[in-house]
Amino acid sequence: MLLAFAICLPTYGQDIASKKFLQHSKVLGSEKCIECHESEIKALHETKHYANKDLHKDKRAAEIARNMGISSPAKIQLSGLCTQCHFTVQKRGSAPAKAIGGVSCESCHEGAKDWLDLHNTGDRRDDGEKGLKKRVEASVAAGLLYPFEVHKVATNCYSCHIVTDEKLVNIGGHSPGSTEFELVSWLKGEVRHNFFESKGSTNAATPKNRQRQLYVVGKALEMEFSMRGLARATEKADYYKAMGRRCVSTRKKITEIIETLGDAAPAELKKIQEVISTKGLLSFENAGPLTTVADEINKQIAMFVKENDGSKLGALDALIPAEGKGTAYTP
Ligand code: HEC
Ligand code: HEC
Ligand code: HEC
Ligand code: HEC
Repeated sequence: MLLAFAICLPTYGQDIASKKFLQHSKVLGSEKCIECHESEIKALHETKHYANKDLHKDKRAAEIARNMGISSPAKIQLSGLCTQCHFTVQKRGSAPAKAIGGVSCESCHEGAKDWLDLHNTGDRRDDGEKGLKKRVEASVAAGLLYPFEVHKVATNCYSCHIVTDEKLVNIGGHSPGSTEFELVSWLKGEVRHNFFESKGSTNAATPKNRQRQLYVVGKALEMEFSMRGLARATEKADYYKAMGRRCVSTRKKITEIIETLGDAAPAELKKIQEVISTKGLLSFENAGPLTTVADEINKQIAMFVKENDGSKLGALDALIPAEGKGTAYTP
């Protein structure tokens, strides 16, 4: 279906490594989606993502903000340091940019200003592949991040869930991100919102093949982000230790995947294992080599998603957590 033509669309490689955060001038706000995506909105409202809208009222947040020199809790919503991961920020005309909610639709699908009126001009259930292809191409060009762009979609999650700002951790006292983050289970729990095929009546499970593909992409991205994080460490304090620990534990998980798959292990993943096993790589003040390896991982992920739809990775079902993180919304 969607995947069938995804190969003719523009592909994304190196630019993904340095994800640019949401363009505030393109943000419309999730009210704009209610008319046609009511179930998605209801699901969003049950998530911790949505609850971020009240972060500035949280005591711990005030403490972290104070440590970072943000003068009052109210300013948390104005500081890019916090808003990039906790809020949806909108900039309208010449007015100052303003937080209009927690993590929301556009945090993951990108600011809708240029694509809103392009992406909804038909329905793939009615106008078939041809209409769909045209619509998707136009929307992608206008910035819509579609779920079939697995690499980009998953990169989004890691860019917020691994905190690679050393000062925020060592001085601010912020956590180094979600230590338990696991892409597949964190996507199929409270975050899940697959209502399209049923016109809103059921929240469909993520297909098995997609889960397998995402599982591999998730571990590889975790490795890439942790290495970039480690490369940025300038002192041997909490941040450095957390990034180092994550590199070591993720490296083990990648080995586990390769061993589980045996002969079916994808070449891209083996290449990743090879480059991350370089002796002495995970050491202090090793920014150059760590970044080179992180870039190589990124390249391999891009190749992996093109070559592997998950259908040959069935053995991974034994590793993929059955439970989702949080409860999926049911209409
Ligand atoms: C006027 C109705 C309408 C509005 C408003 C609308 N959408 Fe959609 N949306 C659709 C339709 C119809 C489709 C399916 C089109 C197709 O088949 O390609 C769709 C598809 C999508 C998809 C792609 C799903 C997929 O896998 O193909 C995403 C993501 C999406 N919308 C997000 C949003 C967001 C975010 C907003 C608010 C900023 C929004 N939409 C507003 C009607 C709408
Ligand atoms: C790179 C993304 C990122 C940035 C930047 C960021 N956060 Fe967070 N924050 C997170 C994530 C992800 C979590 C959830 C961590 C988890 O799952 O344990 C979190 C959790 C929190 C929590 C709850 C957990 C705790 O430590 O008690 C608070 C409070 C918080 N952040 C405040 C802030 C404040 C204030 C700022 C700005 C000074 C900020 N964050 C900047 C990503 C970020
Ligand atoms: C714009 C930043 C951002 C993006 C993008 C993002 N998250 Fe989050 N997410 C957060 C923050 C911040 C929290 C912490 C909220 C809290 O604890 O109050 C969070 C919380 C969560 C939680 C709840 C965790 C818990 O402790 O129960 C899940 C699950 C989750 N995210 C999954 C995902 C997945 C999967 C993706 C990608 C599809 C994703 N997130 C993308 C910022 C983000
Ligand atoms: C945390 C990131 C995140 C947020 C927030 C988010 N999405 Fe999504 N969205 C995704 C991902 C990832 C997928 C693919 C899901 C999968 O593979 O199971 C997706 C899938 C979709 C689809 C296609 C689902 C299907 O049935 O084919 C639509 C439509 C959509 N999102 C619209 C929205 C709307 C509208 C909102 C806001 C109410 C929203 N999304 C909020 C990440 C997000």
